[in-house]
Amino acid sequence: MTDNASDKTNRPAPDSGADAGQTIWGGRFSAKPADLMQAINVSIGFDKRLAPQDLRGSRAHAAMLIKTGVISQDDGDKILQGLDTIENEMAAGTFPFREEFEDIHMNVEVRLKELIGEAAGRLHTARSRNDQVATDFRLWVREACERSILQLQDLQRAVLALADANADTIMPGFTHLQPAQPVTFGHHLMAYVEMFGRDAGRFADARERMNESPLGAAALAGSPFPIDRRMTAEALGFARPTANSLDSVSARDFALEALSAAAICATHLSRLAEEIVLWVTPQFGFIKLSDAFTTGSSIMPQKRNPDAAELVRAKAGRILGSLVGLMTVMKGLPLAYSKDMQEDKPPVFEAFDSLSLSILAMTGMAQDMQPDRARMAAAAGGGYSTATDLADWLVRVLNLPFRQAHHITGAAVKRAESLSVDLQDLPLPEFQAIEPRITEDVRTFLSPEASVASRNSYGGAAPAQVRAQIERWKERLS
Ligand code: ARG
Repeated sequence: MTDNASDKTNRPAPDSGADAGQTIWGGRFSAKPADLMQAINVSIGFDKRLAPQDLRGSRAHAAMLIKTGVISQDDGDKILQGLDTIENEMAAGTFPFREEFEDIHMNVEVRLKELIGEAAGRLHTARSRNDQVATDFRLWVREACERSILQLQDLQRAVLALADANADTIMPGFTHLQPAQPVTFGHHLMAYVEMFGRDAGRFADARERMNESPLGAAALAGSPFPIDRRMTAEALGFARPTANSLDSVSARDFALEALSAAAICATHLSRLAEEIVLWVTPQFGFIKLSDAFTTGSSIMPQKRNPDAAELVRAKAGRILGSLVGLMTVMKGLPLAYSKDMQEDKPPVFEAFDSLSLSILAMTGMAQDMQPDRARMAAAAGGGYSTATDLADWLVRVLNLPFRQAHHITGAAVKRAESLSVDLQDLPLPEFQAIEPRITEDVRTFLSPEASVASRNSYGGAAPAQVRAQIERWKERLS
């Protein structure tokens, strides 16, 4: 016997379906995919993360097929039981994820057939992997948005508590990273509470817009079976079915929108991370982080490095990379489904894993950090940070035009600088040499505390304003 002949006798007929290695779409194909084809085609390595969503989608679909009479109650019951078994296998870690079955959808279907036999083949009636994956992925991204909102709220609570304890902790406010005007640490932190609030809002908006069910769009054109798309939409918690079958299987803007929200959120996190990196330097010395969020150096014993903050700062780069990556995959894709879209998942998984870790680490650092109030207060008085207060006094008390007051103040700062004193310690004759109508009274307006307290406009740095915002957020987050 030749090798060829024995080969023939051992190989199952192409459409027998008897060989576990046989691809599901193998009817037209006589040989297994080339190894390279499989290597580039396979997605089970990453889309196994969609297993819970895939099972939910299949259950909803099967229940609908039973209800509409597309499949028999008997077959439907077998399918639902088989899906339960699969879920148990996954929970127990015994489910066989197999590369030869390409993706999560076919892995589940093949396993279902092994478990319940021919009835498994009826589950895919009026469905395609195209609407199936679109549904699974929407469910996953929707959950990621919901989780991000909850995590952001925890972060807000942690930052809020720190702000509450520091509503009148004086610190320098910066522009150009130069001391500008005194603010409070609480005010500074509340800026981030606002940002994280908008970030959560963006995830909520994205969730709202994506909350339509593509299931039942089938391959691209809809289905000839009497399916009930409202029923499956409702079962999966979607507000309604998507209205165009081509759009249903082609749309990934829900993922792009979620990634955009993630990238913006990561950018906000990176700004706070950068400030933490600055604040813990000996030069700033504004805060201390405990060993929980710092590491030592293997060679320099004195070092305490803010690695967690640095990594949060860096993750923003990866998350933005995910957005740019998927945007580029989607650009120029003709309708409807193309396999390019299988590449949508790794960047989204990667981005939300990184984002979640970043938010949690930032929450931990907010709970951990100890402000050094004396260092902050000392820095707040430096750099002539109350110069604007002198100018404002000249406008209010002497009724000077602001430009002229600015000019006089500049001269006073210059004089204080040459005498090496703070503005509030400049002797009165020096002030009066520049503007004779200046009185001793001005001095009380030139301390950082007075400066901060005076900024009592809505949303300003005055502790009264900061406390009002803290109360508003406490209520919103309770
Ligand atoms: N694994 C595929 C993906 O993620 C599922 C859809 C496959 N559809 C197809 N027509 N080949 O996109």
